[in-house]
Amino acid sequence: MNKNDADRRIKQLRNELEYHNERYYTEHRPEISDKVYDELYSELEKLEEQFPDLISPDSPTRRVGGRPIESFEDVRHAVPMMSLSNTYSKEELRKYDIRIRKIVPNERIRYILEPKIDGVAVNLRYERGKFVLGATRGDGETGDNITENLKTLRSIPLSLEVSAKIPDVMEVRGEVFMTGKGFARLNQEREEAGLSVFANPRNAAAGSLKQLDSRIVAKRPLDAVFYSIGELKGIEFETHMNLLEGLEKFGFQTHDKVWICDSINEVLDALDELEELRHDFSFEIDGGVVKVNERSLYDRLGFTAKSPRWAIAYKYEPEQAETTLKDITIQVGRTGVLTPVAELAPVKVAGSTISRATLHNDDEIRRKDIRIGDRVYVEKAGEVIPAVAGVNKDARSGNEKPFKMPDKCPVCGEAVTRREGEVAIRCENLQCPAQIKQWLRYFASRGAMDIEGMGSVLADQLVDRNFIKDISDIYTLSKQDVLQIERMGEKSAQNLMQAIENSKNRDFSRVIFALGIPHVGSRTARTLEEHFADIDELMNAGMEELENIPEIGGIMARSIYNFFRDPRNRKITESLRRAGVNLESKSRPAVKSSKLKGKVFVLTGTLKQLTRESAAEKIRDCGGTVASSVSGNTDYVVAGEKPGSKLDKARKIGIEVLEESRFMKMISDSG
Ligand code: IVH
Repeated sequence: MNKNDADRRIKQLRNELEYHNERYYTEHRPEISDKVYDELYSELEKLEEQFPDLISPDSPTRRVGGRPIESFEDVRHAVPMMSLSNTYSKEELRKYDIRIRKIVPNERIRYILEPKIDGVAVNLRYERGKFVLGATRGDGETGDNITENLKTLRSIPLSLEVSAKIPDVMEVRGEVFMTGKGFARLNQEREEAGLSVFANPRNAAAGSLKQLDSRIVAKRPLDAVFYSIGELKGIEFETHMNLLEGLEKFGFQTHDKVWICDSINEVLDALDELEELRHDFSFEIDGGVVKVNERSLYDRLGFTAKSPRWAIAYKYEPEQAETTLKDITIQVGRTGVLTPVAELAPVKVAGSTISRATLHNDDEIRRKDIRIGDRVYVEKAGEVIPAVAGVNKDARSGNEKPFKMPDKCPVCGEAVTRREGEVAIRCENLQCPAQIKQWLRYFASRGAMDIEGMGSVLADQLVDRNFIKDISDIYTLSKQDVLQIERMGEKSAQNLMQAIENSKNRDFSRVIFALGIPHVGSRTARTLEEHFADIDELMNAGMEELENIPEIGGIMARSIYNFFRDPRNRKITESLRRAGVNLESKSRPAVKSSKLKGKVFVLTGTLKQLTRESAAEKIRDCGGTVASSVSGNTDYVVAGEKPGSKLDKARKIGIEVLEESRFMKMISDSG
């Protein structure tokens, strides 16, 4: 691959990973399996290794993942909470062992193998024996302060047991999780109450810990296991085994079974044993963590960009089961996408029974040559969404029927289309009840307008009864309308009306997010709020202006542009305005000067006096725009230290280059 192709692919991978990080860490609604995520991730890692000058500090490979959500206070970790490098291959584990031995030759190395729980990492801080602060990992540097929520867990001691000398400071790290049974019970309760269900125990645990009301957390079946430490004062542990024993003495739950191994061969055997036991645990495990036992070697072993070298995670291949594909049905989503769904003879995979699985799209069906009546392999990749991995072609009788996507929407009957460059087949009818239902659920969801009480059952009924034909109709609903819905009492109706009223004051970025513009997640919505003063500016922005916003790529820009060219979407926006929904930006500082109006800047290299972000902000304050790449439209390239290829390009096409001092003068003169 040449450098240009690599650059393009790297950007694509970063965007995709960012998108899925957000689904996973912030929304707790992953769309792809861990395995697929790990594949994208390792492709990016390899490309960055091959082309080191394309590495950038904000690449997902340099950062740990989630960002703290807004509603909790931030906590800066005293010792960063790093991630683990992981592998699916035993060969890689042998190589890991060889690397370790090379770094610390002549040392006796023993490994500890622990189960790897798929839960939520937390840090608990104890000062003079008292639990004072509990936090999520967040992005590894800064997490959410969830102390009150953690106090509700019985497995978290509020003070250390005094069987040993109490350290001045001790931070204990571990995993909060939900047991399989607890998860099933919780989901059943939620389903009965008409609430959305959690995709898996990990998401249920994460979602529970992010509740703002700790009384709700107290009712969730959460548990925890501890395996690591952060800051320590007044105590030391020589080995990892000592550490685990120490934690237990202080009153923490640790893994019932860990393996001490004298060689990598023993580790591999222990991993097989662990895999055998995999489903006997009350919680889901997705692999094992191998740690060097001698803590005195940790400093010498050091770190990679985001993980310590003294540990590595080994993940099990997702488990598969074989079953019959009885039929393929179609689900119509919020954006009109028709998703083929496999209707399966029920089969047990990774501890739960599966009878439906997504087939993603027509291309996937054809690529895998899946036919109705086939014997198929089903997996719960990363214990997330059940998927059909492939077909057992030897089992074919000849009676299997190839599947054809319908040419009409199965819900509203309108002809479907396939947009250029997309794999999806869509129903473009924005009035399609299936779409309205999904959009309504999405619009009302927590990350969007957060309208409490607007669950999926209610949303469906409001659409079925024609009370809601597009999302803006939420704001013309009357209490009388709502009272006509089955099982809707006076009080719930009143609460719902209040919740709808409250939603009018959400931040502009939430409204942008709730509009459901394809490819626009909550982070992009925030970027847009920063850039545009109100909905009119956003709605009328041209392609070039959108593309010039850093962080907004071509596909996103096109999607936003197209969305607002559709008269139906404009009409909905107008109705929202009429209803009094907030459509103005809070975060964008008013333009302070217009000295740089219309000028397009590109930044490259590191500036001494300003971060890149604040330089961009200054330019925007003066009315200019900042673009991410040099083109004929660029007016100035600002070059800091170690400038990249953008500088070469600017020189080549004759664009004026500003050194930092001249740039500073320019923005202060015009400020
Ligand atoms: S040790 C420097 N041990 O896996 C990181 N992590 O992929 C120290 N995890 O953030 C982590 N079981 O959330 C460790 N026995 C175990 C674990 C474990 C699950 C999670 C943890 C960590 C993630 C890394």
